[in-house]
Amino acid sequence: MAKVIGLNSGSSFDGIDVVLVEINNGPDGYPARPKFIKGKSYDWPKAVGDIVLKAFENKISLFEFNRLNYLAGAVYAESARAFMQETGLKPGDVEVIGYDGQTVYQEPPVHDRLPEYADGKDLVSRWLGGPYACGLQIGEPSIVAAACDTPVVTHFRPMDHALGGTGAPLMQYLDYVAFRDIGPILTLNIGGIANCQLAHPDRSKMMAFDTGPGNVMIDHVMRVRYNQAYDTNGERARSGKVDEKLMAKLKDHDFFKRPVPRSAWRLDFGSSYADAFMEEFDHLSSEDMLATVTEFAAYAITRSITDNVKTLNEISTIMASGGGTRNAYLMDRLAAYMPTGLRLTVSDEFGIPAAFKEAIKFAVLAHATVNQLANNIPAASGASGFAILGKLVQPPCLAKV
Ligand SMILES: Nc1ncnc2c1ncn2[C@@H]1O[C@H](COP(=O)(O)OP(=O)(O)O)[C@@H](O)[C@H]1O
Ligand SMILES: [Mg+2]
Repeated sequence: MAKVIGLNSGSSFDGIDVVLVEINNGPDGYPARPKFIKGKSYDWPKAVGDIVLKAFENKISLFEFNRLNYLAGAVYAESARAFMQETGLKPGDVEVIGYDGQTVYQEPPVHDRLPEYADGKDLVSRWLGGPYACGLQIGEPSIVAAACDTPVVTHFRPMDHALGGTGAPLMQYLDYVAFRDIGPILTLNIGGIANCQLAHPDRSKMMAFDTGPGNVMIDHVMRVRYNQAYDTNGERARSGKVDEKLMAKLKDHDFFKRPVPRSAWRLDFGSSYADAFMEEFDHLSSEDMLATVTEFAAYAITRSITDNVKTLNEISTIMASGGGTRNAYLMDRLAAYMPTGLRLTVSDEFGIPAAFKEAIKFAVLAHATVNQLANNIPAASGASGFAILGKLVQPPCLAKV
């Protein structure tokens, strides 16, 4: 049995979630469903958060960006160290700490152009104007390894990118590990961006794709119109009315035209996009604006599923997770949109607390990395083969002197 720590800071940028899980391997040698022990969230210090928000919009210099990578690493390190101290964990108790880093930018692959580069003769052209995916995560892991004296695995996406995969979303590995005994089942994580996975006992039948906005536009409207972080339980949206003109404009987003596996990033539905339609529709009341973007999140999730999951009739459960599950109005609208025969539930029912599923995912991915177990799902990400995702940083205590 291994004790593993996972950290996550997602596209909502609402804090750093830290979890401790216990992982046993199943009879097939792969990790079994992880046992959740404890989870806690830590805030980004405001001074650091402000710089990250600027980085999201490409509004800091390369020199500031360099420093930000270390700053973010220090924030992860303080969260992990505080969690270990509060939990009574010492270096050596924890097999590994896993986190991806804060994504500040992500470019998806252009799938229909990938075959031109498949022979691998010209690697440079894959990225020099080529179709391969790339992304950037910040939060220097050396600072975490030094502060916690524990191995740290980060940056899970680049190896999938190197194999032509999307590298995002990454939830499919946890879903395979946790639900291969009960699949096929759909999972849905509603963070800033929402993603959906088809978890299947046969990895070659799995799928993963972003569905579009989860909370990102709801949070943005709340920040601009109310100076608040989110619409608590969806109460403001519930009191508003959907504006059909704005809804039609949102439904026309190019995102829906991209084939799966596909990923969305903040630039697709981020503050520049939201500011533009908020200006065009500034005659709408705040409640109506919120009702509309909340309705659109439910619509985008459902449309992405019905457009892309061809075997929906074989699936009876969709298991939701992420902070969006706490928006009761969003969950009501989602249930109203769900195709008949698909039961909407939350992952807590299966022992995975909804708010911490993303952090648990990074714990399981890192456990696989240090045990050299394949932790990508090629069928879901579009990668050309199995691989070990994640980069390992060794702690000072392992130095042989
Ligand atoms: N009580 C609540 N009511 C409504 N929305 C909530 C509530 N709690 C959390 N959320 C939403 O969940 C988001 C955080 O979700 P999370 O899963 O952490 O996303 P990410 O992975 O993108 O960081 C918040 O930004 C907010 O929109
Ligand atoms: Mg979060």
